[in-house]
Amino acid sequence: MFIIKGLILTGFISLVTAHAGHHHHEERGQVPLSSGPVEMPVTFNRPVLEKDVYVPAFAGISTFAHLPYLQCWEEGAKEEYDIAVVGAPYDIGVTFRTGARFGPSGIREGSKRIKGYNTELGINPFKSWAKAVDCGDIPFEPFDSQHAMAQIEDYTKYILSRPKLDTLSAMNGGIPRLITLGGDHTILLPVLRAMSNAHGRPLSVIHFDSHLDTWSPEIYNVKAKASKYNHGNPLYHASKEGLTTNGTSLHVGIRSSLYDKDDITRDEALGFKMIKANDIFTLGVEGISQRIKDILGPTQDTLVYLSIDIDVIDPSMAPATGTPETGGFLTREMRYILRSLEDYNIVGMDVVEVAPAYDTQAQLTTFLAADLIYEVMSMMVKYGENNLIVS
Ligand SMILES: *[C@@H]1O[C@H](CO)[C@@H](O)[C@H](O)[C@H]1NC(C)=O
Repeated sequence: MFIIKGLILTGFISLVTAHAGHHHHEERGQVPLSSGPVEMPVTFNRPVLEKDVYVPAFAGISTFAHLPYLQCWEEGAKEEYDIAVVGAPYDIGVTFRTGARFGPSGIREGSKRIKGYNTELGINPFKSWAKAVDCGDIPFEPFDSQHAMAQIEDYTKYILSRPKLDTLSAMNGGIPRLITLGGDHTILLPVLRAMSNAHGRPLSVIHFDSHLDTWSPEIYNVKAKASKYNHGNPLYHASKEGLTTNGTSLHVGIRSSLYDKDDITRDEALGFKMIKANDIFTLGVEGISQRIKDILGPTQDTLVYLSIDIDVIDPSMAPATGTPETGGFLTREMRYILRSLEDYNIVGMDVVEVAPAYDTQAQLTTFLAADLIYEVMSMMVKYGENNLIVS
């Protein structure tokens, strides 16, 4: 026992002394432990510690696009931001595959290469007037759907109410722009409640999806109160609650089968227009972009909210989702259509229904979700730059 202990101690001391540049011998078992502190030489290479050195895309703790993490709902926090990215990992409202609760973490993983200059839009959203932060994920209890929805609504309201001291604070009444990472599509309802509340008016919603998401709970005859809110009907409730504009909100990419053809009549009565996925054959991407703008109307005074269900993209390119529908847009078509909306004041967006467990090993879906957010974030920043309000 003594010998083993002595050997270990001798080994340790000889390591220390070798580093300190001393080469005298300690006798085994007679180590003078109290002979004062051993001085370690300071041999760091100072330039290595300089800030802003190159950080590889694959390194670091995953926030969206390596944005700084800010605990946005901390009491008394004073830090401002212009764009808040926040996760809402709620997936207890799905009708088919579960798993969108891992959407926020998956999208953050998929965003690691997002940075720099957006060539098509001609702007670098990370070097601009806008301060963007990642607020992390909204804390909520994933057991009671209505309670969880209320928590998402309240936290979102809090994020939107945070003060903003930017020179552009006059824009949108100083309300930061919001980017929500879903979660299933149920989250659109609490998010729209918070957004409409903050802006004091209904928003023009552009809803990219293969499904209408305006299922009427009356028609589907659900029994439980909580069943009235699910990922198939956020826009039904949003319209009924006056959160969406009538006639200037729309769906883009629709192609799923319906309960019956009256689904379309009911959808129109809620104030939505529809652009189908197949319209791309007759209109082309340019024609679809134009049709969206015709429905939205003039850019002035239109507040746009973009809700992107990842299943709007063909499942060959976005397999990681709960209710895939074949026959969807390609990624390049989607990105083109999005960028065509750069003249609009996009006050908020979400990407929902990303369920990473069904992704390919190549992370196709989460890369795509991150890229779509990058396009919209670039547009938000460019809009601010083009409409700069100097106070
Ligand atoms: C939207 O406007 C149309 C035409 O004025 C009206 O018939 C319809 O009831 C309105 N819908 C909603 C949801 O307000």
